[in-house]
Amino acid sequence: MRILLMNGPNLNMLGVREPGIYGHDTLGSIEDMVISHGERHGVDVECFQSNHEGVLIDKLHEAHGRFDGVIYNPGAHTHYSYALRDAVAAISTPVVEVHISDVDAREPFRAISVFDGVVLEKISGRGKQGYIDALDVLREHCC
Ligand code: DQA
Repeated sequence: MRILLMNGPNLNMLGVREPGIYGHDTLGSIEDMVISHGERHGVDVECFQSNHEGVLIDKLHEAHGRFDGVIYNPGAHTHYSYALRDAVAAISTPVVEVHISDVDAREPFRAISVFDGVVLEKISGRGKQGYIDALDVLREHCC
């Protein structure tokens, strides 16, 4: 099984960025944690991060047929990028949306996700554990 772990804008700043909300872990350490969890279950995890909408769209297109699932934290794109929503809808690869913080308990604009209805599941407010839980959701869905 092959999984793409994809993070959108500003998530490369984890560890530095608002640690009271997002914690002290860097993106690299979270990626290592997901890779290790995957290895324990025979799942190959490839990691990708970009701050650019078009690059993320291209990566989702590439995921079609190449990966069995995508773990995706779209960052602020969650709340307004219909182009990324359409990219998720365009591929048959199941996508699990992850948010480190509890987006429903923050500013009202964060409660809106353009990915509603096109993702397999949305996981929010579980910190870095959300990425592990997303991998397990995909394992159960795919196998
Ligand atoms: C986030 C929540 C978004 O609202 C925010 O723009 C992010 C991170 C999260 O992981 O909690 O960049 O997706």
